[in-house]
Amino acid sequence: MKVNRLILSFAVAICGSTAFADVPVYLDDSKPLEERVEDALSRMTLKQKIAIRHAQSKFSSPGVPALGIPELWTDDGPMGVRPEVKWDEWDQAGWSNDSCTAFPSLTCLAASWDPELAVLYGTSLGEEARFREKDVMLGPGVNIYRTPLCGRNFEYFGEDPYLAGVMTGQYVKGVQSNGVAVCVKHYAANNNEWNRYTTNSIVSDRALYEIYLPAFKAAVDAGAWSLMGGYNLVNGQHATYNQRLVNEILKGEWGFDGVVISDWGAVHDTKQAVEGGLDMEFGTGTDGLTSKGNPYDNYWLANPYYNGVLEGKFSEEQLNDKVRRVLRLTMRTAMNRNKPYGSLNSEAHHQACRRIGQEGIVLLKNDDNILPISKDKVRSIAVIGENGIKRMTVGGGSSSLKALYEIFPLEGLQARYGDTINIVYERGYVGDTLTYYNHVWTKQHLDDPRSPEQLKADALKAARNADLVLFFSGLNKADHNDAEGTDRQTLDLPYGQNELIEAVAAVNPNTVVVNISGTGVAMPWLGKVKAVLQAWYLGNETGNAIASVLAGDVNPSGKLPYTYYASLDQCAAHKLGEYPGTPRHDPVEGDIIDMKYNDDIFVGYRYIDKEKIKPTFPFGYGLSYTTFGYGKATIDRKKGTADDIFTVTVPVTNTGDCAGSEVVQLYISDLKSSLPRPVKELKGFAKVRLEPGQTENVTFEIGRDALSFFDDKAHAWVVEPGRFEAIIGASSADIRSTVSFEIE
Ligand code: GLC
Repeated sequence: MKVNRLILSFAVAICGSTAFADVPVYLDDSKPLEERVEDALSRMTLKQKIAIRHAQSKFSSPGVPALGIPELWTDDGPMGVRPEVKWDEWDQAGWSNDSCTAFPSLTCLAASWDPELAVLYGTSLGEEARFREKDVMLGPGVNIYRTPLCGRNFEYFGEDPYLAGVMTGQYVKGVQSNGVAVCVKHYAANNNEWNRYTTNSIVSDRALYEIYLPAFKAAVDAGAWSLMGGYNLVNGQHATYNQRLVNEILKGEWGFDGVVISDWGAVHDTKQAVEGGLDMEFGTGTDGLTSKGNPYDNYWLANPYYNGVLEGKFSEEQLNDKVRRVLRLTMRTAMNRNKPYGSLNSEAHHQACRRIGQEGIVLLKNDDNILPISKDKVRSIAVIGENGIKRMTVGGGSSSLKALYEIFPLEGLQARYGDTINIVYERGYVGDTLTYYNHVWTKQHLDDPRSPEQLKADALKAARNADLVLFFSGLNKADHNDAEGTDRQTLDLPYGQNELIEAVAAVNPNTVVVNISGTGVAMPWLGKVKAVLQAWYLGNETGNAIASVLAGDVNPSGKLPYTYYASLDQCAAHKLGEYPGTPRHDPVEGDIIDMKYNDDIFVGYRYIDKEKIKPTFPFGYGLSYTTFGYGKATIDRKKGTADDIFTVTVPVTNTGDCAGSEVVQLYISDLKSSLPRPVKELKGFAKVRLEPGQTENVTFEIGRDALSFFDDKAHAWVVEPGRFEAIIGASSADIRSTVSFEIE
């Protein structure tokens, strides 16, 4: 017996001691992050330091297998987890477990003006990414809406840096709460898809700091763990390894401790990439798996970098900084044992998708209160337009998804009204019959044998015989619509929709247009229709979200995150230029397109205000099924210094007969400044839900950030003494109250 016990206790001692043997610091979660990083770095060979910082496949990097430092798996995109692709191809891998929740476009999230929804959005997307074992989600896209023609506006947060910044910060926190990194993109001034690889954005410091960088800074301030450099050049150097943008501003002034990842194929030179602050290279053209040896070793930051270090061209210390960042990212994600397990296609995600869609829809016009649909007056509805039945979760570029399901608008209406209202559908025209993008099949065959004349005649017949017409207009995810890699070529709706809408409205005055797009379009027929809804790409729950708003189950509360221009010459990027830019041969970069941002800081409503233009609809505009009254704004100080906090209070009342939410906007106007400033700038907003008759005192705090402008000569944010105005608006053009104050 004794001997057995002796053996047992010896065994326990061994096992016990092995169990508690010195776990290397880099693997010990109880140790501080930076200690773990340094320990891992000290154990790595030069080859391992090179390999860990570039792709091994389309979307992954190798980690350090011999040290048990895991691979990093990235994936698109900002609105949902992209279906699995083959190792080194864009083509689908054909997995059966990678359908996802397609959340609404980020422009819809911006249109909700609800930071809490941004957290919900990011958290839900992060849970899907976590479940799919992704470490880095390649989003959010936060580029400013500079021209309505940009093919990727639908992926971004609109024209205003403050709104984009607030929503970005919350989205980042949501995603990263799952131990999944964001990769905020595309840094920076990447505002058109036309010639996106060769556009050289020539931007002043003021425009950079006041317009194009704030959303990225908000992401960094929210703790973003990685950032993606854009394809374009900025002031003559590629953005993804731009000395000024990456080394001086991002890593210098902002103290970013994460990883700078190139856009896929955005690297063109080893020396520039090494010295320009790029940390990880992805997507550089390789000839797939057919090349001699591993194509990834041919990356600019692979063998050429390795040899460069050996030859003393590049310092190992500089390389170590890049490696530290990748190790930090890995320990925050793949090596983070405390992260939750995520979930995929849960009911909670579907409800989040629907709620964000419902909160982002913008009611732009509602004559005769034709909406919500009246059950007594409306016994039949004609649904017209291709966008009533078109799958929109597929296409559009890297944000294309394999959604578990997608409720089309017509289906949403049929589900909502069942047989209480007779609904007929007419296509009206054949626009895009896209059947797949990157081999994600739409499972739709939208060919229609009828002639355009027959299609139109059938639509008009249906319209004539209905109590109400719902015309689903808009764009789609095909090239030259809302799609990566191409810009639109006109502000007009495609496929002859303008003429068809006019014809339909002529036979039935009770015509409502539901516009599905990610960006603004011209509306020459606006005066001829009774109501207009701006309904974005809403993902899985598209039809249910739209039907809920049309039926009045949900009171629309969205507000436009960008100006709805009536024509391109109302947009500074086109009026002042430069779009689409001027070709030039650069001795280093080759054939590029110089795009002078002559609009400078006057982007969106900043230009509209300056030139007193009347757009179709202004920034921040959106109606409700109820009405809101604003009382007089008051301010707690009339005088103070720039470091004081001024508090502005304004009573807002629901003066209508149904509950609703109102987005109260605070703009600040600096009445006298040594440098040009916009008439006013958004510096605060609050979404308040009010029952009929309810009043809430909405308060805003005004501090230095709300007052300052960027002085490029002093290279500093400055507040100049003088008179300011706090302007309370229901939109940028609907000013309800103004109160002035003095900065001594
Ligand atoms: C694309 C896009 C970028 C995307 C990446 C990976 O070209 O510009 O947004 O995340 O490549 O698909």
